[in-house]
Amino acid sequence: MDVRGTSGAATGSSYLAFAEREARGNSAVYQELAERVAGDAGLLGLLAELPPAKRQPNLLFGAVRHLGGPVAEGWPAFRDWVAAHWEQVSATMRERLTQTNEAGRCATLLPLLASLPQPLALIEVGASAGLCLYPDRYRYRYVSGGGSGGVVAEFGAEGSPVTLECTVDGPVPMMESLRDRLPRVVWRAGIDLNPLDVRAEEDVRWLESLVWPEQTHRLERLRGAVRIARAEPPLLVRGDLNATVRDLVAQVPAGATPVVFHSAVLAYASPEARAGFATTVRGLPGHWISNEALSVLPTVAERLPDQAPARSGLFALALDERPVAYTGPHGQSLDWFAGA
Ligand SMILES: C[S@@+](CC[C@H](N)C(=O)[O-])C[C@H]1O[C@@H](n2cnc3c(N)ncnc32)[C@H](O)[C@@H]1O
Repeated sequence: MDVRGTSGAATGSSYLAFAEREARGNSAVYQELAERVAGDAGLLGLLAELPPAKRQPNLLFGAVRHLGGPVAEGWPAFRDWVAAHWEQVSATMRERLTQTNEAGRCATLLPLLASLPQPLALIEVGASAGLCLYPDRYRYRYVSGGGSGGVVAEFGAEGSPVTLECTVDGPVPMMESLRDRLPRVVWRAGIDLNPLDVRAEEDVRWLESLVWPEQTHRLERLRGAVRIARAEPPLLVRGDLNATVRDLVAQVPAGATPVVFHSAVLAYASPEARAGFATTVRGLPGHWISNEALSVLPTVAERLPDQAPARSGLFALALDERPVAYTGPHGQSLDWFAGA
């Protein structure tokens, strides 16, 4: 789904699409709520008061949870509560952005990061709270996707409170030696339109509200990653990716390989802004890792294997615009291409 917004008339369809394509199989609670919102003239009327880009299901459900409203108690409780608290709900939706920060995505980035000349300087574009800037502080458990479900490799930072589990298929490079090749990160920085601060309770509560209700493992992971980031908060710059990325890369310390990366970000930018970003990053030193929905970057999309898998919602992982794998949107799977 293009996340930049929907016209008023299309809000119902976008909730139905969300129920079908994103919530089904992942959250029965959100699937039901989204289906019901799509058919409720009263709630659609309230949502129509908001700018199109602010009518998204994730924003509505996150706002209700942030304010302590009921989401898992069934449709009537949800509808009545939202109608009664619309002023607060709409204010939160206007103020906040969907900024889900998923440390789990580091499991899909790791093989690429490990393959680059070390040490690394990480520059994350659309960093949210910056939790993907700590690939060297997590533990990893890669399990076989080929049916056996057996553990392929398990390693990572000693004593880390976070273990990222990821199902792997295909010839992931250096899988046997990844344990000895954790990236060495000497500098980490991020850019965001609205950086979230891991030290601020309200920001952390917002991040927690964005985790879907049944996904308690993601909530635990988020809390562990926040603890890691709090011990050494990242440098986060407020700004638009196109306005700030060049300056940030210019600050990378000598001797480190600059790696500009992003996941689940460019869908929020217009096609023109994406094209401008691509032109800028091509001219920068170092490497560029993108992990975005399949059609978001045209130069990556056109090089994908002909047969895209049937599973919806996958991302394309690419190094310098060369696609190498399909990835689960929360980092839960890594499907490496033969010959990549
Ligand atoms: C869905 S979150 C993903 C966060 C993080 N990359 C991750 O994978 O967990 C998208 C983030 O991109 C930021 N963002 C969207 N458009 C942006 C832009 N034009 N410039 C900078 N940040 C942007 C949003 O504020 C949000 O924090």
